Amino acid sequence: MKALTLVPSSFSSSSLCFLVLVSSLCSICFCNQNSDPLLCIPTERLALMDLKSNLTDPANRLSSWVGKDCCCWSGVVCDNFTGHVHEIHLRGPDNGIHGHCHRNYLTGNQTITSNQMLGGTISPSVIKLLQLRYLDLSCNDFLLGSIPAFIGSFQNLIYLNLSKSYFFLEIPHQLGNLSTLRVLDLHSNYLDSKSLKWLENLKGLQYLDMSGIYIPEASDWFPVISNLTSLLELHLSDCLLDQLPNNPQQLALRPLLS
Ligand SMILES: *[C@@H]1O[C@H](CO)[C@@H](O)[C@H](O)[C@H]1NC(C)=O
Ligand SMILES: *[C@@H]1O[C@H](CO)[C@@H](O)[C@H](O)[C@H]1NC(C)=O
Ligand SMILES: *[C@@H]1O[C@H](CO)[C@@H](O)[C@H](O)[C@H]1NC(C)=O
Ligand SMILES: *[C@@H]1O[C@H](CO)[C@@H](O)[C@H](O)[C@H]1NC(C)=O
Ligand SMILES: *[C@@H]1O[C@H](CO)[C@@H](O)[C@H](O)[C@H]1NC(C)=O
Ligand SMILES: *[C@@H]1O[C@H](CO)[C@@H](O)[C@H](O)[C@H]1NC(C)=O
Repeated sequence: MKALTLVPSSFSSSSLCFLVLVSSLCSICFCNQNSDPLLCIPTERLALMDLKSNLTDPANRLSSWVGKDCCCWSGVVCDNFTGHVHEIHLRGPDNGIHGHCHRNYLTGNQTITSNQMLGGTISPSVIKLLQLRYLDLSCNDFLLGSIPAFIGSFQNLIYLNLSKSYFFLEIPHQLGNLSTLRVLDLHSNYLDSKSLKWLENLKGLQYLDMSGIYIPEASDWFPVISNLTSLLELHLSDCLLDQLPNNPQQLALRPLLS
C-alpha cells in the first residue's frame, strides 16, 4: 500500500527513501514492465526468502525467487492493490503413472528419477504472510516430515493442498483453526488422525479429501463430517473406516462418498 501511494514529495523519511530506491530498481523487474511502483511488501519478501532457503530445489524451480519484487516470482500471486501475497502455487509436476507424484517412476522398462520435487522443510516464517488465501505444496517430497502445526495460523486461508507430498504422522489439530477454509486436500500422504474433532470448526469447508489417511481410530468421523454443512464433495477412500453408518440414507450429506 505504501508503495502504491508513493509520490515524489518533500517528505523524506528513511522508509520513503528506501521505497524510492527499490522502485528505481524495478526496471529490472520483468513482470512490472509498466514501471508500476514495487508491489511486494518487504516483510513478506523476507518470509518467502526463508521459505526458499529451507526448501531443497534440485531442479531450480525457484530460480525466479530473487530480486526485490516478490510479486513477480513464479508461483507467487499478490493482491494487485495491497501487494500482500495472496497465493502460493508450488505444486510439483505430476509426472508419474496414474497421477502419482514420485521421485522415481517407471515408464516402460525404465526407471526415471525426477528432480522436480521440492523437499526439505517449510519455514515457520510463512506465517508472516498474513493475507495468504491459497497454498498448494502438493506433489512434492517432504521426506516424511510432519505437517507443521503453524499451518493452522493462516486466518484467511481458503485453499490448502498438501496432497501427495510425503507428509507423515498425525495431522496437527491446529488445521482446525483455519476457519475460512473451503478446500482441504490432504490425500495420499502417510498421515493419521485419531479423532476428526479438529474438523468441526471448518464450517465453510466445501471440499475435503483425506483419502489414504489412516483414521480407523477416529470413531467420531461420522457425526463430525455430517455436521459440515457446507460440504459438497468428500473423499475418504482407503481410510480403513470400519464404522460406516448402517443406513447411508441417513447421511444428511450432499457429498459424494468415494
Ligand atoms: C532454515 O533456514 C534458516 C536460514 O534462512 C536456517 O537458519 C535454519 O537452520 C533452516 N532450518 C532448517 C530446518 O533447515
Ligand atoms: C492483477 O494483475 C495481473 C497482471 O497485470 C492481471 O493479470 C490480473 O488479472 C490482475 N488481477 C486483478 C484481480 O485485478
Ligand atoms: C527397454 O525397452 C526398449 C523398447 O521399448 C528396448 O529397446 C530396450 O532394449 C529395453 N531395455 C532393457 C534394458 O530391457
Ligand atoms: C491437489 O493437488 C493434487 C496433486 O497435485 C491434484 O491432483 C488435486 O486435484 C488437487 N486438489 C484440489 C482440490 O485442487
Ligand atoms: C488454534 O486455536 C486454539 C484455540 O481454539 C489456540 O489455543 C491455538 O493456539 C490455535 N493454534 C494456532 C496454530 O493458531
Ligand atoms: C454440530 O454443529 C452444531 C452447531 O455448530 C453443534 O452445536 C453440535 O454440537 C455439532 N455436533 C457435532 C456432533 O459435532
